[in-house]
Amino acid sequence: MSAAVQETPWAQRRVLITGGMGFIGSNLARRLVGLGARVTLVDSLIPEYGGNPRNIADIRDRVAVNLSDVRDGHGFRAIVRDQDVLFNLAGQTSHQDSMTDPFTDLDINCTAQLSILEACRMVNPGIRIVFASTRQIYGRPDYLPVDEKHLLRPTDVNGINKMAGEWYHILYNNVYGIRACALRLTNTYGPGMRIKDARQTFLGVWIRLALEGKPFAVWGGEQLRDFNHVEDVVDALLLAATDDRAIGETFNLGDSEVVTLRALAERLIEANGGGEYEVLAFPEERKRIDIGDYYADFSRFSGLGWSPRVSLSEGLRGTLAYYRRLFADYA
Ligand SMILES: NC(=O)c1ccc[n+]([C@@H]2O[C@H](COP(=O)([O-])OP(=O)(O)OC[C@H]3O[C@@H](n4cnc5c(N)ncnc54)[C@H](O)[C@@H]3O)[C@@H](O)[C@H]2O)c1
Repeated sequence: MSAAVQETPWAQRRVLITGGMGFIGSNLARRLVGLGARVTLVDSLIPEYGGNPRNIADIRDRVAVNLSDVRDGHGFRAIVRDQDVLFNLAGQTSHQDSMTDPFTDLDINCTAQLSILEACRMVNPGIRIVFASTRQIYGRPDYLPVDEKHLLRPTDVNGINKMAGEWYHILYNNVYGIRACALRLTNTYGPGMRIKDARQTFLGVWIRLALEGKPFAVWGGEQLRDFNHVEDVVDALLLAATDDRAIGETFNLGDSEVVTLRALAERLIEANGGGEYEVLAFPEERKRIDIGDYYADFSRFSGLGWSPRVSLSEGLRGTLAYYRRLFADYA
């Protein structure tokens, strides 16, 4: 191991990442391996979700992989026993799927979260946990930018279950002293995201269609959104796991660059050097769960020293370059 690796606070730390073969989990794993951590990934690789062996192909010999399902509470106890830090990222991410199959969303985003925390309480109460929550729990904003004091009023089943998952973490922190915090992520994009369909984010399928030279659909088009590049989210996760001021707290992530979806489409086409999109009316089933305009006030977390570094245009260019190279592994 190099001297540089030994100096990092992560050197030799035992880190468990649930959802570790997914988009954000794999980018986090790559960074942690570089920092000298001993990383174990838990993932079920359910085909409809974002887990993909390609995401960890470059670090496969430097991480331990446990192909298992976090709904198996007994199995999870054995895995979490010796870990120093848990990044709890496993989740069902599709809002639409949470409406057509609400019980699977409940099982993964709610019940399994409670059993993960129970496993920690039973066998490893000294662990430190960061939970990947979501801006979806706010629902349709009453005001912008949305800060952490905003009412939580989810518009879909996924938002309700993620909200419960988040609160279990804070509850176990407050009642049992298991040091946990939650980051409420906004739309995250970058290499490793799911582009097969819109299950993770509509931007994924836009990227695939743009690369295929096909038009992509923009529903509505005037909704405001903020986007974080995955490298900035990895910075945030690492900070949340190491700064004691984060313990027991929930924080928004976000970006100061706020764009309409139509502007995002233009930005993507510019970054791609070409492409087409069409603005369509919202399909009825989507409209009912849409949150309208959203962007975050992330000043609380900035107070701990985090700020996004990757601009949207730069991030989109890098993401497109990644998928141009590895399209067949993701499309
Ligand atoms: N990407 C975003 O824009 C975004 C926004 C808000 C919140 N989040 C949250 O961040 C976390 C990571 O999201 P992501 O974008 O990397 O999605 P992802 O789908 O790529 O990653 C989730 C991973 O969890 C795994 N998984 C799902 N159910 C599992 C189970 N029962 N057991 C074990 N593994 C399971 C999947 O296989 C996948 O690899 C999720 O909890 C998600 O809710 C993501």
